[in-house]
Amino acid sequence: LRASFAPRAQKQTQKFENRVQAQASTFKVAVLGAAGGIGQPLALLIKMSPLVSALHLYDIANVKGVAADLSHCNTPSQVLDFTGQAELANCLKGVDVVVIPAGVPRKPGMTRDDLFNINANIVRTLVEAVADNCPDAFIHIISNPVNSTVPIAAEILKQKGVYNPKKLFGVTTLDVVRANTFVAEKKNLRLIDVDVPVIGGHAGITILPLLSKTRPSVSFTNEEVEQLTVRIQNAGTEVVEAKAGAGSATLSMAYAAARFVESSLRALDGDADVYECSFVQSELTELPFFASRIKLGKNGVEAIISTDLHGLTEYEAKALEALKPELKASIEKGVAFAQKKA
Ligand code: NAD
Ligand code: LMR
Repeated sequence: LRASFAPRAQKQTQKFENRVQAQASTFKVAVLGAAGGIGQPLALLIKMSPLVSALHLYDIANVKGVAADLSHCNTPSQVLDFTGQAELANCLKGVDVVVIPAGVPRKPGMTRDDLFNINANIVRTLVEAVADNCPDAFIHIISNPVNSTVPIAAEILKQKGVYNPKKLFGVTTLDVVRANTFVAEKKNLRLIDVDVPVIGGHAGITILPLLSKTRPSVSFTNEEVEQLTVRIQNAGTEVVEAKAGAGSATLSMAYAAARFVESSLRALDGDADVYECSFVQSELTELPFFASRIKLGKNGVEAIISTDLHGLTEYEAKALEALKPELKASIEKGVAFAQKKA
């Protein structure tokens, strides 16, 4: 995050404000599900971005207080609240980036796919409104199961005649954040230096960290690869179990989503060097959607980085083949849901 944290001294505040005022472009961001466990800390982190001029917070309840609270932070963006379906259209008009963390989280013993029945309908309704009110916005889908909710969103946008595959993103940044953290801890590296691409999807074995492509180059024993891969794949469950019925990852997710929002805003602002992993429409494999590193630009996905898939280790190549049937089934389930409802 470029804004990091609010400067303490008055002098620093002035410098911060000067930088903000010198900024050429600013953008409008909407968070749908903004009163939730992810929504609230995510809104706070977005409120700290100098690239944001307006922050629109939408939920079915309890969003007024969140917005009032947040609006007292002396950062430049204006915070507006929107409650319920009747205010959704106004929330979305003129928005550049829409982030969707609306939906139910897992409890211990559940898979992400167990959330499908509730969250598929929520995502469908929200994406219909996005299609009607800000079809040109970047759409960031956080709601699980991401492997199905992104294909649902794509189908809804197609039905509305406004699908732009370059602007629809499944947020998998948390998998990268976790991989970076766990590798840095294991190898005693500075956290800031480590970058591990994570490909595939966002559930269990479909999450595939490419440890052999870690930057800076690091060597791992077979046992370390196995242990780290399994930990990264199960990290969401680790949090669900630790929260013992009180939900899933919210704070680390808010951090990861804020990073993806900031990267998108930097790309919209003309930064030519923005790379993130994301679950997007892709031709990298035979699957229609696939997470990989992408280059972000003003128009969304500018390039899908194929080189990460060259020269995979035997372990990674096998894991890639093993994840495909599950990921394919989750994608098809999402597409079938959206087509049946059409
Ligand atoms: P939460 O229950 O704390 O918050 C969800 C919010 O969504 C609530 O405020 C609720 O009122 C709102 N909501 C429900 N229906 C809505 C609708 N129709 N329109 C607008 N808002 C609506 O849950 P959470 O912990 O914030 O998690 C949200 C989702 O994010 C879950 O599906 C969870 O599995 C997912 N998640 C994804 C990742 C990822 O890496 N992609 C990580 C963590 C959580
Ligand atoms: C995560 O990876 O933390 C999220 O997908 C939430 C979950 O259900 O694990």
